[in-house]
Amino acid sequence: MIDASLREKLKALEKCLCESILGQEEVIREIVPILINGELGINSEGKPKANLLLLGPPGAGKTDICNVFTDYLLGSEKLIRFDMSEYQTVESIYRLLGHNGEEGLFGLNYDRVDGAGTLLFDEIEKAHERVLDLFLQLLSAARITLGSGRGVESGGVLRCCDFEYRLAVINRFKD
Ligand SMILES: Nc1ncnc2c1ncn2[C@@H]1O[C@H](COP(=O)(O)OP(=O)(O)OP(=O)(O)O)[C@@H](O)[C@H]1O
Ligand SMILES: [Mg+2]
Repeated sequence: MIDASLREKLKALEKCLCESILGQEEVIREIVPILINGELGINSEGKPKANLLLLGPPGAGKTDICNVFTDYLLGSEKLIRFDMSEYQTVESIYRLLGHNGEEGLFGLNYDRVDGAGTLLFDEIEKAHERVLDLFLQLLSAARITLGSGRGVESGGVLRCCDFEYRLAVINRFKD
């Protein structure tokens, strides 16, 4: 049985997003059912709650849409944002996942939101290609092993990747 207040909240999600993110109704209509299924727990066992890849030009509202739905559904403190322009070297993987028994930023933030929230990988096109490989793994697996050896279940986390497309960016991924 779905809690009545959750049902009302989910019903008003599309309106909330359309009021804050202007001119993106088509995108919002695509995203809303994915978010609703995630909140209702309608996802395959062992799979992430939901994955969103937001592609678009700079300033289109890709990051902001994540801010708005996270704030509305979970509370703004549940957003874990990684600025991927800070992960341009192969070593930056260690900062994310930890290394030599130390916990990286992923594990620390995961604990901060008690394993439930939105993981936003902002401007993912700027990350090193090894970091991008890791994201492909993150998108399909619901369990991640950190550098400390601890495994975390991330089935309660929604992942969003903000990918800016410009010709220069697309050329980087052509091969
Ligand atoms: N469709 C929109 N409706 C209302 N505000 C918007 C919209 N698009 C962008 N904005 C505002 O413009 C600013 C930049 O938007 P945002 O950071 O979400 O862009 P972005 O698509 O993530 O860009 P980038 O590719 O540079 O990361 C924010 O303050 C946001 O609130
Ligand atoms: Mg952005």
